[in-house]
Amino acid sequence: MNRRFFSQLLALGAGSVGLWQSHARGDDELAQEPADAQPGAVRDSNRAGRKTEPVNVADFQELAKAALPPATYDYITTGTTDEVTLRDNVAAFQRLRLLPPLLTGVADVDTSTAVLKQPIALPILLAPVAGQSLYHPQGALASARAAAAAKTIMGVSISVGHSVEEIAAASSGPKWFQLYMPKDRVVAKRLVERAERSGFQAIVLTVDLGERKDADKRNRFALPENTLRKHLRDIGFNISDRMTYEQMMAFNDQAWDLALSWNAFDWLRSITKLPLLIKGVLRADDAKKAVAIGLDGIIVSNHGGRRLDGVPASIDQLPQIVAEVNGRAEILLDSGVRRGTDVLKAIALGAKAVLIGRPYAWALAADGEAGVAKVLELLREELVSAMLATGCPNIAGIKRDLLKS
Ligand SMILES: Cc1cc2nc3c(=O)[nH]c(=O)nc-3n(C[C@H](O)[C@H](O)[C@H](O)COP(=O)(O)O)c2cc1C
Repeated sequence: MNRRFFSQLLALGAGSVGLWQSHARGDDELAQEPADAQPGAVRDSNRAGRKTEPVNVADFQELAKAALPPATYDYITTGTTDEVTLRDNVAAFQRLRLLPPLLTGVADVDTSTAVLKQPIALPILLAPVAGQSLYHPQGALASARAAAAAKTIMGVSISVGHSVEEIAAASSGPKWFQLYMPKDRVVAKRLVERAERSGFQAIVLTVDLGERKDADKRNRFALPENTLRKHLRDIGFNISDRMTYEQMMAFNDQAWDLALSWNAFDWLRSITKLPLLIKGVLRADDAKKAVAIGLDGIIVSNHGGRRLDGVPASIDQLPQIVAEVNGRAEILLDSGVRRGTDVLKAIALGAKAVLIGRPYAWALAADGEAGVAKVLELLREELVSAMLATGCPNIAGIKRDLLKS
């Protein structure tokens, strides 16, 4: 991959954003259904001024599509190259079959649990998602408030569009800070310290790097100047007012450590007391290494099909990772969670909780804080109904034998 392109992608965590610079799409492009389009979604929500109340994640996807410039919608929605992994993330959940026992006498369920000792009201966290101020003016401030109101944790991307201090001021709810590693370890150290001082409760190091999304190339995504300037300054890079856009891009190109190894965690451990999580694990032997170096949490993830295409769905990798880890670290999972039954399936296979990415990015675009609150509530309701139907009075009661083997 062209190095500049790669670094630009890293600047926004999972893909670069530049809706101001995007080209209008041709009719043939508009005619293409996004790979992640879901059946059953509202089709005409914003037509003729009619506002349809979303009833599921797919509805929020449609609302986001109507609300956003096409390039921004594509940035959120699409996956890397042929989108094999993007599709498989959803399909793999759908392949799993539930086989519930009858007459369990369960009429009431409790969805509360705890992750890294933090009590939460539902086992659904917000995944770190970059560029949120491009989806809604309130951006991550709105997402953080909605997460706090739902009593869950927000994973805050280093590229989210607001500083750790701004997000902490907007919401006192539990938050984790997701890091991509700056080459300059002085900047990295200060940033981790700022997150810790701002009350963030854990550091997530995302280690699946490198992204190639055809839609973003076609749309010519590049960070808008003001967004890039704020992003780099929020991280703590010294960016003067006089720096031109090209100079900032050149700076950004060389700012990130793309040659990470496991000792990045030793270094993190030496500068912070916060729990450490690794995000992007798909192999059992990597999970074994994570446990061996004492990491607190493992996020089984393929970055929502935005990194290397052709890797397996996260949910398909979960059982072997759970077996390898054997309770020595907490395991979370993301990629493809769209329904309450997906949450139930992931927990049945050994995840402590799941994270959602696109579902809340779409909801944020559709309706800001209220949208994120609503999508969390819809998923919680779906989980409640799945727990009732499978006879699980609480999260600990969600067992593997609910899945047909
Ligand atoms: C628009 C967008 C931006 C993302 N930005 C980041 C990021 O900055 N850091 C990160 O670790 N993951 C990022 N991710 C990946 C998510 O954290 C998560 O792994 C993924 O979205 C889960 O898949 P899902 O979208 O199917 O729920 C991003 C995902 C999306 C959709």
